[in-house]
Amino acid sequence: MSSRTVIRGGLVVTASDELHADVLIEDGRVAALAASGTPAAGAFAAERVIDATGKYVIPGGVDGHTHMEMPFGGTYAADTFETGTRAAAWGGTTTIVDFAIQGVGRSLREGLDAWHAKAEGNCAIDYGFHMIVSDVTGETLKEMDLLVEEGVTSFKQFMAYPGVFYSDDGQILRAMQRAAGNGGLIMMHAENGIAIDVLVEQALARGETDPRFHGEVRKALLEAEATHRAIRLAQVAGAPLYVVHVSATEAVAELTRARDEGLPVFGETCPQYLFLSTDNLAEPGFEGAKYVCSTPLRPEEHQAALWRGLRTNDLQVVSTDHCPFCFTGQKELGRGDFSKIPNGMPGVENRMDLLHQAVVDGHIGRRRWIEIACATPARMFGLYPKKGTIAPGADADIVVYDPHAEQVVSAETHHMNVDYSAYEGRRITGRVETVLSRGEPVVTEREYTGRKGHGVYTPRATCQYLN
Ligand code: URP
Ligand code: ZN
Ligand code: ZN
Repeated sequence: MSSRTVIRGGLVVTASDELHADVLIEDGRVAALAASGTPAAGAFAAERVIDATGKYVIPGGVDGHTHMEMPFGGTYAADTFETGTRAAAWGGTTTIVDFAIQGVGRSLREGLDAWHAKAEGNCAIDYGFHMIVSDVTGETLKEMDLLVEEGVTSFKQFMAYPGVFYSDDGQILRAMQRAAGNGGLIMMHAENGIAIDVLVEQALARGETDPRFHGEVRKALLEAEATHRAIRLAQVAGAPLYVVHVSATEAVAELTRARDEGLPVFGETCPQYLFLSTDNLAEPGFEGAKYVCSTPLRPEEHQAALWRGLRTNDLQVVSTDHCPFCFTGQKELGRGDFSKIPNGMPGVENRMDLLHQAVVDGHIGRRRWIEIACATPARMFGLYPKKGTIAPGADADIVVYDPHAEQVVSAETHHMNVDYSAYEGRRITGRVETVLSRGEPVVTEREYTGRKGHGVYTPRATCQYLN
């Protein structure tokens, strides 16, 4: 028996179009769109009708960078796949791509299987995986080919975190060469971790232990240097490159230069770099620990370059790097030594709203909002047009968004499993009202109607942003 829903009267906004249209959904997919009030729209018949008058009808968000249950910094990211995907849905995100991790001395397969076991049957929304490659060996390189074939088409490497995830330039070059051959996309954490570790040691020796020193030792120039090196290694390998969590003006400049040269290099930034700064890291007491992530928050001046990069398409994606650690008991591991504060911040629930605020504030346009948060991440990670747009045949991952509602962000009301909000007290215009995942209501007029296990693993094609 088929199930149909029609969303009537909203402004459908995609990366390319804005149209007052009714959307017919059948069996979990978009069946048709027709201009509202026309006979074609009037002919849409459905068991369920959602009135979107005065609202936006947008594709569900695609967050291409999350870390649910990630083991890191001597603890685990506080959101499980269950709590994290539920919070994502509350915030209008209907697909996440999380990072499976290759354990020390383990194969990629073992790491990927472990992440499947964590996620399967627990997610409220659909999910895919990238693979963190921390040990580049002949075997690992062969496994990369197999993973690409089965839909894990992107691999994160780290120029930071020596002794944890770090790869040296030779290992990075080998992985890039492999990716050039198998269609994989290398995602790079671009910070010079070897130099940073020297500066950490020196800062601690001077007694500089507060959270703000995390931002001081992880210098913008060391992000830019690593970004430059990653770009040139990718050029030598003939591979495309996606630089994650870009935060510094100087790093954006490296990406801009490379793109002007015609190289297939891409950059992602995150809301924390667009809306927060080193002022937060310097909050009194130990409060700054809430904002410790890497790359670190930068002085506010850097935000202009990030917004500009998003407007000029030198940066293509905003994802969250959602990696929450509670202040109590987790961030506190670094009292007296900033280098022991678990790196990462919560945000999977806030991204769509914060970026809508950016539309209200005039940083970006409405369609660009959808492009950087839905369509381009879907293309970048091989999920388009199943995800990231509203078009016949696409999964009916759709958000009814109220652009006029006012909200105040708070840990009291958020759904992430973390005891603070990085955006506490921030006023936002706009709010998610209803969320469908493959046609099923996950949030209905601000009530949770989803269930764990609805979300399914979604294998991905290779990067579609190169074509
Ligand atoms: O501080 C961060 N970003 N934590 C998550 C791990 C990573 O490097 O993305
Ligand atoms: Zn990273
Ligand atoms: Zn990350």
